[in-house]
Amino acid sequence: MTEVPAPSAQRTAVVTGAARGIGAAVAVRLAADGHRVAVLDLHEEDTAGTVEAINTSGGTAVGVGADVSDAAAVDAAVSRIAGELGAPTILVNNAGILRDNLLFKMTETDWDAVLGVHLRGAFLMSRAVQVHQVREKWGRIVNLSSTSALGNRGQANYAAAKAGLQGFTKTLAIELGRYNVTVNAVAPGFIETDMTRATAERIGVPFEDFVRHTAAEIPVGRAGTPADIAAAASFFIREEASFVSGQVLYAAGGPKG
Ligand SMILES: NC(=O)c1ccc[n+]([C@@H]2O[C@H](COP(=O)([O-])OP(=O)(O)OC[C@H]3O[C@@H](n4cnc5c(N)ncnc54)[C@H](O)[C@@H]3O)[C@@H](O)[C@H]2O)c1
Repeated sequence: MTEVPAPSAQRTAVVTGAARGIGAAVAVRLAADGHRVAVLDLHEEDTAGTVEAINTSGGTAVGVGADVSDAAAVDAAVSRIAGELGAPTILVNNAGILRDNLLFKMTETDWDAVLGVHLRGAFLMSRAVQVHQVREKWGRIVNLSSTSALGNRGQANYAAAKAGLQGFTKTLAIELGRYNVTVNAVAPGFIETDMTRATAERIGVPFEDFVRHTAAEIPVGRAGTPADIAAAASFFIREEASFVSGQVLYAAGGPKG
């Protein structure tokens, strides 16, 4: 007989870039899954909406302001979270920015900013959180990659960061596996958020047209939602996913990836 898995224990999760978009949906989903959630974003006041959504529906959340690319800010944030919510053993590296441009127009500032938030940010957050995961002998890290990791015009910096996160994911899976820590990545396709809204603005197309045009190319015939990505992250974090590590799950409405 196959045993029904035990429900997941309550843990402390940190979701970066969780003031809005995919990060907010992941935070809400992890709270619904029974975890305490640290809603981390650049400015603590911006996290109020996500924190309130969780707390008013019976969950436990605190807002934390930190720039994930700043080592001192990351260490202070993770210490504060451990003190207020208990050892953070779940980490979702979601914070991200775009600075799109064709290579010949891409500045060093645009390159450094994107690599700094996505790659350095995931590195610093993971390094701070793994202390707690190793001590607890349990942990989950989910990194947000993207279909852009496969190459996307105007996104040399972003594609490099998102492909880099895949190598980072696989390496941490190898290093941390012995401590019962799994490390996986979700690679979304086109998701309706402020990030894709900004892209539409930059190229001068109304967002609704941009979404319709993009959805026409997606096999399931629609754009993705933040909740679609939250569901994928939730799977990796479940107790019963403990034998799945070092994987990249493309959530893109089709086989792209
Ligand atoms: N929207 C998409 O179509 C899509 C597709 C693939 C991957 N992704 C990835 O998913 C993640 C979330 O994307 P989104 O669409 O929700 O973006 P978004 O722009 O709506 O939200 C990103 C959040 O990250 C925060 N943030 C930015 N820099 C930060 C920093 N240095 N420290 C802390 N927080 C910071 C922002 O303040 C914002 O709240 C990103 O990593 C993005 O690259 C998005």
